[in-house]
Amino acid sequence: MNIKAVRGTKDIFNEDAVKYNYITEIAKEVFENFNYSRIITPIFEETALFKRGIGEGTDIVEKEMYTFLDKGERSITLRPEGTASVVRAYLEHKIYGNETLTKWYYYGPMFRYERPQAGRYREFNQLGVEVLGSKNPKIDAEVIYMGYKLLEKIGISDLRVEINSVGGKETRIKYREDLLEYLKDKKEDLCSDCQTRYEKNPLRVLDCKVETCKEIVKKAPILTEYLSKEEKEHYEEVKRLLNLYNIPYSENPKLVRGLDYYSNIVFEIITEKLGAQGTVLAGGRYDGLISTMGGKDTPAVGFAAGIERIMLLMDDKKIKKDSIGIVWLGESTSDYALLLANELRVNNFEVYIDYEMKSLRAQMKKIDKTNTKYAIIIGEDEVKENKVIIKNLKTGEQTEINRDLVCEYMKGEINEI
Ligand code: HAM
Repeated sequence: MNIKAVRGTKDIFNEDAVKYNYITEIAKEVFENFNYSRIITPIFEETALFKRGIGEGTDIVEKEMYTFLDKGERSITLRPEGTASVVRAYLEHKIYGNETLTKWYYYGPMFRYERPQAGRYREFNQLGVEVLGSKNPKIDAEVIYMGYKLLEKIGISDLRVEINSVGGKETRIKYREDLLEYLKDKKEDLCSDCQTRYEKNPLRVLDCKVETCKEIVKKAPILTEYLSKEEKEHYEEVKRLLNLYNIPYSENPKLVRGLDYYSNIVFEIITEKLGAQGTVLAGGRYDGLISTMGGKDTPAVGFAAGIERIMLLMDDKKIKKDSIGIVWLGESTSDYALLLANELRVNNFEVYIDYEMKSLRAQMKKIDKTNTKYAIIIGEDEVKENKVIIKNLKTGEQTEINRDLVCEYMKGEINEI
């Protein structure tokens, strides 16, 4: 068969699937500890949702959406991100009527027609959180803390947190005017993307990666100097809390993000290990989005992280759960071994057992040495005496114990991560 996965998509299996599961399990645990509950929104939505939510002038809406007409002639788009859908669900189900603070997490596939490369795909997975209903800087700090700790817990090191405040709408209008004025006579020297940005979305010129643009914006007016008193206080309090929580961060006054809905705090968690695709997790406040979508003025903040990028940064060794191998010697020991394997498996242990009768050597060879800690050896004598031999594969030590105590014994010995 000549059909391959479509460019920019991939199959996730074996070690990668183990990583994917590990990441989402840790994320679920961390988010639920912070009282977030899961929301699952549809993979496709009406195109208008993203146009209005993310913004017409953004790269995502202009160039990257998978948009098509369905058989009923409706314009449908495969979701390029999760925030717009979460806000739609919040409004559609009138969640604001039941609770003052809503904390949701999600994970799943997103779609963007981008140029594929390492760490950048056309179908990729994000995990994210959204908090709706609070302006409190404690929430901004919680979200950043949680994102950082989540990545740390997964075992990723050398991360850098960058933070900025882009202020509210009025601040940005004022800043935009001054920025346009500053860039006016330098326009010709900007890269072609930035010449378009100059017209449509000039703040994006600030975080362009092209050297000439970087040089030009070095002397541009500084966004944080335009913040109102209240916006400044909010930013200061978020930074104070990050210091309190011991989260290492740096301020980057040129961080503006590529989606239109942001206001006030924006942040990214970055690694140097993935080249141009170094942003692992990104987000910020979007206090104006819910009213743009037709709701009451409701402040909100959240982030999303690229699961594939996290996977690329992970160390294989850390995620292997210890397992147990059962070795049975002779047909008469088969049922005894099977019952023990089942008992251990339903008690949450990962157990390898060969279903074909094989020699001791052949069975031992099959056991994956990288993560099997114990072999349980069962011969005819053990069956008669209701016992098993437990061999520690790391030390070679062997002990004999009563069969009925195996589960209890393993609970103290096995690392379930
Ligand atoms: P975003 O910056 O567009 O933000 O994406 C967040 C993360 O998704 C990126 O930092 C990256 O790790 C991952 N990502 C984005 N595009 C790709 C791609 N083509 N391939 C692989 N990974 C990718 C958002 O999506 C916002 N909704 C975040 C947010 C939530 N802000 C507030 N709440």
